[in-house]
Amino acid sequence: MHLDTAARVRQSWALILPQRKAVCRDFYQRLFARYPELRPLFKANLAQQVDLLVTMINTVISALEHPDRVRPLIETLGARHADYGVQVQDYAKFEQVLLETLREALGDELDADAQAAWREVFEQLSATMQAGAGASAGH
Ligand code: HEM
Repeated sequence: MHLDTAARVRQSWALILPQRKAVCRDFYQRLFARYPELRPLFKANLAQQVDLLVTMINTVISALEHPDRVRPLIETLGARHADYGVQVQDYAKFEQVLLETLREALGDELDADAQAAWREVFEQLSATMQAGAGASAGH
């Protein structure tokens, strides 16, 4: 991970510190509005889901320079997602809506470099989750 990538993601996530939960709530609302077919996959309470997503993003961002430290955690997260019924093509939907939500929350403060940095982090995260999902297939 390029140091600038880590710094850019960390800085933009810091800018929304007081509104992280509100931003993640907004993210799910946008995701379900855009892709209603995903809504039935979510069975649990959405407020709890928001907390878990914020916590997971915090964890990933804290380990950007040391991805090996969180790799096992992310792989098992990916395996659970396969069990939830999440498919590979759903990750691109998630990424698109997440970037849109961040742009909406941050406006001009999320410049092109920061958006590229979020994409890089998300794509690495997705690849690790999908590797974990693949490793557990058939079990
Ligand atoms: C790639 C980044 C993603 C992260 C960091 C993430 C994070 C999480 C976390 C922390 C949970 C809580 C439960 C657990 O730990 O197993 C969860 C559950 C869930 N996620 Fe994700 N997720 C991601 C991508 C996706 C995608 C692409 C989908 C597709 C729709 C998705 C759908 C779900 C569903 C359906 C649940 C279960 C909710 C329930 O049981 O009600 N996630 N996710």
